[in-house]
Amino acid sequence: MFTSLVFSLILTQIPSAAVSKNYRIGVGRADCTGPVAEIPLMGYANPDQLAGGILSRLYSRAFIVAQPNDSKRVVFVSADIGMVSQRLRLEVIKQLKSKYGELYRQDNVILSGTHTHSGPGGYFQYTLFLITSKGLIKPSLNALVNGIVKSIDIAHENMKEGRLFINKGLVENSQINRSPYSYLQNPESERNRYSSNTDKEMVVLKMVDVNGQELGLFSWFAIHPVNMNNTNLLVNSDNVGYASYLFEQEKNKGLLPGEGSFVAAFASSNLGDVSPNIKGPHCINTGESCDNPHSYCPVGGAKMCMAAGPGSDMINSSKIIGQNLYLKAKELYTSASQEVTGPLHSAHQWVNMSDVTVQLNATHTGKTCKPALGYSFAAGTIDGVGFCNFTQGSLEGQPFWETIRNQLLGEPSNETKECHKPKPILLNTGEISLPYPWHPEIVDVQLFTIGSLAIVAFPGELTTMSGRRLREAIKSEFESHGTQGMNVVIAGLCNVYTHYVTTYEEYQAQRYEAASTIYGPHTLSAYIQLFRGLAKAIATNTVQDLPNGPEPPFINVTNMTLLPSVLADVAPLSKTFGDVLQEVQPQYRVGEVAEATFVGANPRNSAENTTLKTFLTVEKYENVSGNWHVMYNDASWDTKFYWTKGFLGRSQARVEWHIPSSAEPGLYRIQYFGHYKVQPILKPAQFYAFNGTSSAFEVVKL
Ligand SMILES: *[C@@H]1O[C@H](CO)[C@@H](O)[C@H](O)[C@H]1NC(C)=O
Ligand SMILES: *[C@@H]1O[C@H](CO)[C@@H](O)[C@H](O)[C@H]1NC(C)=O
Ligand SMILES: *[C@@H]1O[C@H](CO)[C@@H](O)[C@H](O)[C@H]1NC(C)=O
Ligand SMILES: *[C@@H]1O[C@H](CO)[C@@H](O)[C@H](O)[C@H]1NC(C)=O
Ligand SMILES: *[C@@H]1O[C@H](CO)[C@@H](O)[C@H](O)[C@H]1NC(C)=O
Ligand SMILES: *[C@@H]1O[C@H](CO)[C@@H](O)[C@H](O)[C@H]1NC(C)=O
Ligand SMILES: *[C@@H]1O[C@H](CO)[C@@H](O)[C@H](O)[C@H]1NC(C)=O
Ligand SMILES: *[C@@H]1O[C@H](CO)[C@@H](O)[C@H](O)[C@H]1NC(C)=O
Ligand SMILES: *[C@@H]1O[C@H](CO)[C@@H](O)[C@H](O)[C@H]1NC(C)=O
Ligand SMILES: *[C@@H]1O[C@H](CO)[C@@H](O)[C@H](O)[C@H]1NC(C)=O
Ligand SMILES: *[C@@H]1O[C@H](CO)[C@@H](O)[C@H](O)[C@H]1NC(C)=O
Ligand SMILES: *[C@@H]1O[C@H](CO)[C@@H](O)[C@H](O)[C@H]1NC(C)=O
Repeated sequence: MFTSLVFSLILTQIPSAAVSKNYRIGVGRADCTGPVAEIPLMGYANPDQLAGGILSRLYSRAFIVAQPNDSKRVVFVSADIGMVSQRLRLEVIKQLKSKYGELYRQDNVILSGTHTHSGPGGYFQYTLFLITSKGLIKPSLNALVNGIVKSIDIAHENMKEGRLFINKGLVENSQINRSPYSYLQNPESERNRYSSNTDKEMVVLKMVDVNGQELGLFSWFAIHPVNMNNTNLLVNSDNVGYASYLFEQEKNKGLLPGEGSFVAAFASSNLGDVSPNIKGPHCINTGESCDNPHSYCPVGGAKMCMAAGPGSDMINSSKIIGQNLYLKAKELYTSASQEVTGPLHSAHQWVNMSDVTVQLNATHTGKTCKPALGYSFAAGTIDGVGFCNFTQGSLEGQPFWETIRNQLLGEPSNETKECHKPKPILLNTGEISLPYPWHPEIVDVQLFTIGSLAIVAFPGELTTMSGRRLREAIKSEFESHGTQGMNVVIAGLCNVYTHYVTTYEEYQAQRYEAASTIYGPHTLSAYIQLFRGLAKAIATNTVQDLPNGPEPPFINVTNMTLLPSVLADVAPLSKTFGDVLQEVQPQYRVGEVAEATFVGANPRNSAENTTLKTFLTVEKYENVSGNWHVMYNDASWDTKFYWTKGFLGRSQARVEWHIPSSAEPGLYRIQYFGHYKVQPILKPAQFYAFNGTSSAFEVVKL
């Protein structure tokens, strides 16, 4: 009787497990902040914009979904960085291979950047990006590789049986199109199908385990994280990072930012022409609008034409936009009821984007070009203006700059000039390879499906209309093979950075995004053809027949570092690291800023040292226990850490706490943490941890 009971238990268990339609799901988050001093921030290509502290930490957020029988799995990562570079991807995949063998591969791992413009650069292998980020900066690259791999490790460890739900909704009052004159080049009949010149739809994927315990949220929305402008020097994750912060703080109650198992990612999408600076472009000298085809001001030209966000300053703007995203995501997450079910598929190819022939219609083909940037690239955008007298919408070159370019880099070939028309070529990056190639030729195209959800890994920034065309093409490709109702989501800034992609029509107007469409006027058509190919392979179960394509190069960048190494840190006479130079006041009211300045050391010393979790804490005295309790760290958006360099190895660190109205009255103190470097002659450098503590101060309500 006992055995028959056991057998009947086994028999009832096995079939139910075998028919389970649930997935196995894991989520993870890991720090990927990297060095927060002296490194150029990645995004605006502004050589003066060197990191000088931290407003919020950067995180890599990963999810893994596996089929119930574990025959297939897919990994999606959204990291708080400008973009994923080819070098970064190659190194991450290499590490995953050494840890997990064939489990995580080129085809089933997507790496996407949120596109914050306030993260450290230096993790690229192509010359153009080496120039703008002072070379290949290993500590920057390593922090990203380690953070991304760790987020995948955590997700891998946490996998359990769970369910996925998808939901969609519109986010209002958060975007404008920053090249509306390009958008207007698209056919009227096409534009008439949409109510806005930006995509307002947010897609959320809700993850819960079988017991209903909440695991995480991944969302996709088209917006540039550029509320923080090119004068900001504090490392931070901008509007989308603030949305993650609010969501994670709410779900990981009582924990510090960066702690807790709930993961909320706000990933990028077709954000190419989408600005969060919704007050729109104005001449900063005269105040008049410069919403014109060349973003040009009567006095001062294009350099004066800038857009600002809705807030009182750039941090306030990041928070307002971030809050909008968070509130909509929360609403969609809470009400998500459409379950995602069905098999997983992934498809990936490497493609030589210099060499794609596109079938435009029955009679005509087009061809992509060797990479080149047009004049309007140097004009920048209303989110971050360029330099000299470059303006957007330039259809002709300037003899002055041509002469300089020809002397420095050589004249573009007639073939390349012809191929890119009407783009006047400023930098013929595809024809120079000194000291290393300037731009990638081999690019990843990748697609995976989780039931009815298709995630398109796009290696750059698609404009609004380009994204719409690509999504539609993929959806209709699936339909033509009998797979109806796919939800196609574009993930932006994936795998390798290739700047922008506009539609053929937008390309003709040659604003910034078009001048930055580096493979020429048929780039979008080429991608549509390639991604259709991936969709077809998935829909017809022929992924194994897709050619891998040419492998991207691993460029051994050795002699490209313009960043001097840290000298030894030095404390002023009769002082030591962490000593307070300027004390807090005895008392503050909520809404005020408590601040203290310390004898500092270069934060780069701590970049790869995992013993340092935060540069600062704000601690509250617990009357009952007599202990100091950490209330805030450097990942908090209420704290700021500024580092300034003095002479001969000296430096100062200033910690600010913007006391929020939610702070409880009581006794507080500020601590600063770091590592200082000692360089004995002819011996390896040594690093020592230190900390400093302010006096205690009282916080009172208004
Ligand atoms: C695993 O499950 C999928 C669908 O759920 C099925 O297509 C596949 O054949 C299964 N694989 C194995 C090895 O059982
Ligand atoms: C950046 O934002 C600040 C406000 O936070 C503003 O004072 C400054 O003018 C802006 N600079 C640019 C270049 O947009
Ligand atoms: C932005 O600043 C305004 C005015 O200072 C303030 O009322 C508002 O709360 C701030 N918004 C956020 C999201 O911090
Ligand atoms: C890519 O294609 C271009 C144009 O055909 C060719 O010159 C180049 O060598 C190719 N690059 C690689 C890495 O195969
Ligand atoms: C095919 O495309 C070419 C180039 O865009 C165009 O000139 C031609 O009219 C098109 N042909 C048809 C039949 O649409
Ligand atoms: C741009 O600046 C250069 C150098 O100052 C000058 O020679 C050239 O004429 C200017 N071009 C225009 C269109 O203003
Ligand atoms: C490129 O074109 C120009 C003008 O059409 C011509 O003078 C020149 O010889 C051409 N260069 C080459 C290398 O063919
Ligand atoms: C860097 O190294 C490469 C290969 O070792 C060499 O070809 C190149 O000339 C070097 N560049 C510089 C600027 O030293
Ligand atoms: C990179 O180049 C350096 C010096 O040129 C050499 O020592 C090293 O082995 C190379 N690394 C790889 C991975 O090729
Ligand atoms: C903390 O304790 C002290 C003495 O033990 C008392 O005077 C004070 O009111 C207490 N403060 C709070 C906020 O409870
Ligand atoms: C990290 O810092 C600790 C001191 O906190 C030091 O002992 C250790 O050597 C450092 N590690 C590295 C890799 O620099
Ligand atoms: C601060 O530094 C002191 C002296 O080096 C050390 O004993 C203490 O553990 C440190 N405190 C923290 C919180 O790291």
